[in-house]
Amino acid sequence: MDTEIVVLPDLNAVAREAADRWIALARESIAARGRFTVALSGGSTPRALFSLLASEAHRDLVEWGRTIVFWSDERCVPPDHADSNYGMAREALLSKVPIPAWNVHRMRGEVDPEQAALEYEQTVWREAGAPTSVGGTEPTKVGVPSFDLILLGMGPDGHTASLFPGTPAVHERTRLVAANFVPKLNAHRITFTPPLINAAAHVMFLVAGSDKADVLRAVLEGEFKPDVLPAQLVKPVEGQLTWLVDRAAGMHLQRK
Ligand code: 6PG
Repeated sequence: MDTEIVVLPDLNAVAREAADRWIALARESIAARGRFTVALSGGSTPRALFSLLASEAHRDLVEWGRTIVFWSDERCVPPDHADSNYGMAREALLSKVPIPAWNVHRMRGEVDPEQAALEYEQTVWREAGAPTSVGGTEPTKVGVPSFDLILLGMGPDGHTASLFPGTPAVHERTRLVAANFVPKLNAHRITFTPPLINAAAHVMFLVAGSDKADVLRAVLEGEFKPDVLPAQLVKPVEGQLTWLVDRAAGMHLQRK
């Protein structure tokens, strides 16, 4: 695992850097394997990236017909609910680019969380597993599905995806997708687990805002205590880990 930490002036700069990397990774993945599999993060930070990718300047730089979209976590709400990660991405990006509906695989937050997690794990194996017949040149590998790119955010408590401190999914080492009740939110979530995240070719954190500064330093430079700081679990086995952070979130980092 190679780790790269990039501190950028502000959220817009983070979004621009993330968009450039998305476009480059998509080109590379499609050339090699005929498709680009990407899992979107939720929350508010990625909205700036999604809007940029949907803009006139960027929209046509991605081959949407060969881009397969997933989510790294979801709230257990219907897709049209204000809290839906799918709903935000649909509004900010997917409704504005020519991506075929069958390339978009949302987690079904409206059904029983365990059922949704089991269903989504099957979807991940089927749709992001080793490609069988592709238009690329690279031989396929068998094993845990390896996403070309997984986007992640991080909360002020050190959670990522829906791996919250002290919750069961933090310790999941077999399942690839898990239902996870979060007591502090009194809410059910569906989330990628560490094994699936760490099988990715590229994992990219987008972190912005001064409210993340303390936890970002603890995660990147502090003691390894993943039950308290689940973002520390993200260690791609063979892939690249990139942190794109704005100056406000990175203000306490000693090693830049
Ligand atoms: C979610 C996310 C979550 C998010 C962080 C940061 O469903 O909420 O996937 O892990 O990335 O909470 O959220 P913000 O970007 O809103 O700070």
